[in-house]
Amino acid sequence: MKLEGKTAFITGGGSGIGAETAKLFVREGAAVAIVDRNAEAADALVGELTEGGGAAGSFPIDVTDEAAVTSALTETHGAFGTLDIVVNGAIRMAPGRLVDLATADWKALIDVGLHATFVVGREAAKLMIRQGTGGSIINLSSNAGLAPYPGAGAYSTAKAAVIMLSKQQAIEWAEHGIRSNAICPGHVETPLTAYLQDPEIRAGREAVTPLGRIGVADDVAQAALYLASDDSSWVTAHALVVDGGIVASIYNHLPGRKWSS
Ligand SMILES: NC(=O)c1ccc[n+]([C@@H]2O[C@H](COP(=O)([O-])OP(=O)(O)OC[C@H]3O[C@@H](n4cnc5c(N)ncnc54)[C@H](O)[C@@H]3O)[C@@H](O)[C@H]2O)c1
Repeated sequence: MKLEGKTAFITGGGSGIGAETAKLFVREGAAVAIVDRNAEAADALVGELTEGGGAAGSFPIDVTDEAAVTSALTETHGAFGTLDIVVNGAIRMAPGRLVDLATADWKALIDVGLHATFVVGREAAKLMIRQGTGGSIINLSSNAGLAPYPGAGAYSTAKAAVIMLSKQQAIEWAEHGIRSNAICPGHVETPLTAYLQDPEIRAGREAVTPLGRIGVADDVAQAALYLASDDSSWVTAHALVVDGGIVASIYNHLPGRKWSS
């Protein structure tokens, strides 16, 4: 029980990585706020968690709505008595090459993927500072925050900024015992990456992943658990890559001399 007595506020908690993280955190003793604009998904997960004896609350809000975020954080604190962990996972996509990308799509992605990550972190930090017991903020970045993702330029740009935002938060809030870290997952099977169901895409991705498989949401949830728990009490301003080795494997793809044989 690594999170006994702690409360986690998880945006994008209704699906994929956020939902798996919520389940793991509850198994480890935390209370969780499931924050997701998909009310049906958030309510269903909270139903499942509470039926299993866990403590969970549903907040079917849009994370770009500042007032709604602030009251969800206050309500979470009121309901569970503490706020210790934030996981920022909410995302929407805005596919398209930069040359064709509509301004409205660019702004909508930056709004959810970066701006809301800033606002949720800021409002949570105010509460944590008042509470005086520190905290852990975990921001979902991506491999795409480390390398440009053609056709997803707004996403890559937001995810790169999320890494810097996490470092900035970490350094500014360290004096309050608040840690902030980013996670950079590679390709993980979730509703967001339904294309991984295509056998050809799947086999192609597996072939270029050094550890030989597509990730599952639990791979990322376990990293989030490490960053949320006291096991990582001296880890802050870090970007944890969880990707089966793919982002570091560029030399596997360069033609020409291989030194190994
Ligand atoms: N799946 C992957 O391969 C992968 C890889 C790298 C990074 N990530 C990151 O991990 C995080 C979770 O991804 P996932 O694959 O679990 O996605 P997902 O699509 O399964 O879940 C995202 C959730 O965010 C919610 N959401 C979207 N916009 C929202 C808004 N404005 N307000 C509130 N909720 C909103 C959606 O309703 C959805 O439930 C994202 O930040 C994503 O960029 C995922």
